[in-house]
Amino acid sequence: MQRTEIRTILRDPAALAGQTLRADGWVKSARDSGRIGFIDLSDGSCFASLQVLLEADSLAEYAEAVKLGAGSSVSVTGRLRPSPAGGQSHELRAESVHIYAASPPDYPLQKKRHGLDFLRSLPHLRARANVFAAVFRVRSLLALAVHRFMWENGFVCVHTPVITTSDCEGAGEMFRVTALDMERLPRDGAGAVDFSADFFGREASLTVSGQLEAEALAHAFGKVYTFGPTFRAENSNTARHAAEFWMIEPEIAFAGLSEDMDLAEDLVKYLARDLLTRAEAELAFLDRFAEKGLTARLEKLAGAEFVRTTYTEAVALLARHNGAFRYEARWGADLQTEHERYLTEQIWGGPVFVTDYPREIKAFYMRANDDGRTVAAMDLLLPGIGELAGGSQREERPDVLRARLAELGLPEANYAWYLDLRRFGGAPHAGFGLGFERAVMHMTGMTNIRDVLPFPRTAGAAASRREV
Ligand code: 4AD
Ligand code: MG
Repeated sequence: MQRTEIRTILRDPAALAGQTLRADGWVKSARDSGRIGFIDLSDGSCFASLQVLLEADSLAEYAEAVKLGAGSSVSVTGRLRPSPAGGQSHELRAESVHIYAASPPDYPLQKKRHGLDFLRSLPHLRARANVFAAVFRVRSLLALAVHRFMWENGFVCVHTPVITTSDCEGAGEMFRVTALDMERLPRDGAGAVDFSADFFGREASLTVSGQLEAEALAHAFGKVYTFGPTFRAENSNTARHAAEFWMIEPEIAFAGLSEDMDLAEDLVKYLARDLLTRAEAELAFLDRFAEKGLTARLEKLAGAEFVRTTYTEAVALLARHNGAFRYEARWGADLQTEHERYLTEQIWGGPVFVTDYPREIKAFYMRANDDGRTVAAMDLLLPGIGELAGGSQREERPDVLRARLAELGLPEANYAWYLDLRRFGGAPHAGFGLGFERAVMHMTGMTNIRDVLPFPRTAGAAASRREV
């Protein structure tokens, strides 16, 4: 008999009541009440599980079935019927139970609440725990929602390279990619490593951002986005930084900073609204076990008016509270996480765009403002997260861009293709990068980035002691 997924059974159980069905899945728990027993069965096709009724009088495998340990895999055939007890509308009354693999008693995820730290040590198993089942399902829904939003808004999805020879952010946080023999490095006359002998004939790294390539493609398609993995050898061991994370990077031609912010605001609200309609079960669970009030918070986010303020105004506001900070807020210094959170949590109590940062603290590609001191940059700050997205209008004037490269000591030859984009049909354009994990954190109530990546890579820890 063909298997029916639990999501199909639970979508409209009344329509299937009375039918004989086969459900395969993993035992979340089994209990024995004497003549009858129950299995809570999950197959991962939806967040909810199916109740299986076992009756000693009619089920040959009763004795083995009621004793099954959590994590066992089984195939149950039986008739679906209305459940007399509360908690579920229907249950599957087992007529046969086939055991694929009975889980031994040392299965680490026994039915009880486990701490996130403990679960983090079991990346290969933790997706079976309810909280991670909910988080990773939300992650999947959000990824799809990003693509749907972009599709509905006329964007072309582009895949930018993972291996690159340019440092987009200029922060020197790149992981090197090489095929050289580390034991026998080729050296040039001056004793430096000779990368011309390397695989690509020059130094290469894992990308920190797909922006520069997205800019090239935006000059062909007008509106593009890339959504892929990015890598940073950033030694910040915080709950919001990973060495490997995913970024959504739209790039739009014939647009400036205000359209860029409109797009970021629309995207974030779309994601919140989408989850509220598609992830009811997951959100209800996370609302109870991860963050009380999560659903209400997302409803508020979906309808929020995002504040827009300049860096200069923000620093003036923050400076009044300098006594509360570890780092002084002053014009010219980058905002620290404590400042960002103070703005979005204490001062505005909601999402805030901070715009027009001092040019000295921002990347080479941001468009110079007329004041000569600031650039057309924006950061989107959210309560609990701090920076969710960072973007800018790009410098489209070749002479200004060239002067900026020279000022920063960046060799023009390395940016010849980037300057070409300005020479051949250059247009005002803008974009941003939105940290996908930070969005997942915000929309699940999880407070550690390690808990929204199935297999997190962070400084000093590629994975758990179990090496997944
Ligand atoms: O602000 P960032 O560095 O911006 C850029 O890379 C631009 N080139 C993007 C663009 O304009 N296309 O990074 C963008 C976002 C941040 O706002 C943050 O949400 C996330 O990426 N991010 C990280 N997320 C997790 N771990 C890290 N180490 C992150 N670094 C940045
Ligand atoms: Mg940033």
